[in-house]
Amino acid sequence: MTQLPQIEIRPGRSFAEIDACIGLQRAVWQYPELDVVPRRMFVVGQAIGGHLFCAWAGDQLAGYAFAIPGMREGHPYLHSHMVAVAEAFRNRGVGYRLKLAQREDAIARGIPLIEWTFDPTQGRNAHFNLNKLGAIVRRYSPDFYGPSASAIHRGLPTDRLHAEWWVNSSRVVGLLRDRSLPSPSIQRTVTVTNTGQSSFVPTSDKLRVPENPALESMLHLRRQLLDAFSQGLCAVQFRAEEPQPAYLLADASSMTGIDFLPAGVDAPVWRKDEEA
Ligand SMILES: CC(C)(COP(=O)(O)OP(=O)(O)OC[C@H]1O[C@@H](n2cnc3c(N)ncnc32)[C@H](O)[C@@H]1OP(=O)(O)O)[C@@H](O)C(=O)NCCC(=O)NCCS
Repeated sequence: MTQLPQIEIRPGRSFAEIDACIGLQRAVWQYPELDVVPRRMFVVGQAIGGHLFCAWAGDQLAGYAFAIPGMREGHPYLHSHMVAVAEAFRNRGVGYRLKLAQREDAIARGIPLIEWTFDPTQGRNAHFNLNKLGAIVRRYSPDFYGPSASAIHRGLPTDRLHAEWWVNSSRVVGLLRDRSLPSPSIQRTVTVTNTGQSSFVPTSDKLRVPENPALESMLHLRRQLLDAFSQGLCAVQFRAEEPQPAYLLADASSMTGIDFLPAGVDAPVWRKDEEA
């Protein structure tokens, strides 16, 4: 294995660092111009209580994490809008270290929760979020961002799971200390029929079930997870093994250290064009 240069994580402080993050954002998500998070958002995000952490390999940006502040029912939390690691640096713990930097900052400021969204069909992210970080999920938003032309989204609806990372919960503290997940009683298993790693679908006009297995897989997860969450279950683990990767669900009320969010689905905020 080639030796990686030393990685240093530090807060982003200059315009040049923000611009490097935007360069990495473009490379990772391949967003069209309309969807690129611009320099001004990075600036204002930090100015109002968010944060930016950069992972540097010498003068090369290996990754970054950017969060903005959120408020729900009078409680502050951080919404981690983007965590990205450059392809050449993946699977070497850089993403994990960026998340730990986010957690330390939240704890230092007395913020108990960091949230973010992720695509339910992406097994890699499900493993990273649930198994490696100890996040839990009890909300699902169908087509959260509306249509996306990003190649990473493969022409699929932008369905998103909402990860909740209760940074001081016994689950997270124990996992980070011992590298082993507590095992609550699993009430239900929702299998992923296609983890979406290989089925790139470039245009939305290709989206027809059953011709597009990635879409079929997403709609299956949408139905199953919405149903499970509506019954008070939450996703606590991802079984990554092929051929049947799966979300494992437990009773949300049995989880300790998890607080102020009602289970269930967020009301849609943005109307789709056809409804406007
Ligand atoms: C998600 C991301 C930030 C992770 O960064 P990273 O530096 O690779 O993260 P780490 O090395 O700390 O951990 C990656 C884990 O995923 C695992 N993994 C990688 N590919 C996988 C796959 N196809 N299925 C399951 N797990 C996978 C790795 O084995 C590792 O877990 P392990 O330590 O238990 O072995 C990075 O992949 C990325 O930038 N992805 C594109 C942007 C994105 O999706 N951002 C996050 C939105 S939630």
